[in-house]
Amino acid sequence: MFNPRKYLKGLVNKILGNHGEIYEETKAFTIKSEDDEYVVYTDKGKIKAKYVVIATHYPIINAPGFYFLKMYQETSYVIGIETKHKLFEGMYINAENPTVSLRVAKDDGKDIVLIGGMNHRVGAKIDLGDAYKELEKVAKDMYPDCKVLYKWCTQDCITLDKIPYVGEYSSIMKNVYVATGYKKWGMTTSNVSANIITDKILEKENKYENLYKSTRLRPIKNRWELGEMIKETANSLIINKFKDAKENLLDVKKGEGKIVEIEDEKVGVYKDEEGNLYKIKPICTHLGCELSWNNLEKTWDCPCHGSRFDYKGNQIYDPAIENLEIKLE
Ligand code: FES
Repeated sequence: MFNPRKYLKGLVNKILGNHGEIYEETKAFTIKSEDDEYVVYTDKGKIKAKYVVIATHYPIINAPGFYFLKMYQETSYVIGIETKHKLFEGMYINAENPTVSLRVAKDDGKDIVLIGGMNHRVGAKIDLGDAYKELEKVAKDMYPDCKVLYKWCTQDCITLDKIPYVGEYSSIMKNVYVATGYKKWGMTTSNVSANIITDKILEKENKYENLYKSTRLRPIKNRWELGEMIKETANSLIINKFKDAKENLLDVKKGEGKIVEIEDEKVGVYKDEEGNLYKIKPICTHLGCELSWNNLEKTWDCPCHGSRFDYKGNQIYDPAIENLEIKLE
């Protein structure tokens, strides 16, 4: 158990101490090979480099690499509670389904319990209004006096064989590396990945390299998982698009989002509590799958690879990098 913020601060100081530079709030769009080096194009300018590590959560380059064929995203939930009971030591995770994990954390000097779990695929067409209720029930069973202080959800990349992809991005992109698919174990696996990629750049051997090899074929041999990916993609990319929207604009209540039919076209509409309407084209800007409305977070979520957009159409989660098309009328 460690404090990730303090740990990151240590890393940042090391980078800056070695004359490294860190740019926040800078969005990378693409990478091109020019002469003997790579150029990364961002919204704030170009960066030239001999080596590039794509650690953008879900990889943003579709080809080569084709990570969209072998990885999806899951959402899970966390609540932070306080109680007068004596707390446990250590961290725990159950072996059953649904998964629930427990750990103690410091909040302003006071011990609180973090309870996490209840995962589902991003963009699943389910009612998420009660997403935190199950975790609150677990909390009440353990500590009847507890008070929920915090709630949040998080999103993770899951590979088809459940082992992260770390190493060369593709066998035809020399000196470009990837680290992704941590399956909720990012705080630890990112360190393993950093060691593997550092060793690769320094041309040193690493005994874990083969286990995590990003170009391995094993994931796509998992027929059940591959079948699920293909089914979801076919539904969202083709079949659902040809189904008419069952509702129209008048069916959208305050605080709700829906895909409705307007002049023979499907439009995603969110109506806020004041009655203002926000209309978007409900098609993901990554590879074109039809989006689902997330009634908990008020976002448009993609069932194919997990991109997410706020109700105004702004992209908030990769692999999409562009905003949604806004419908003015
Ligand atoms: Fe890939 Fe939407 S995230 S199509």
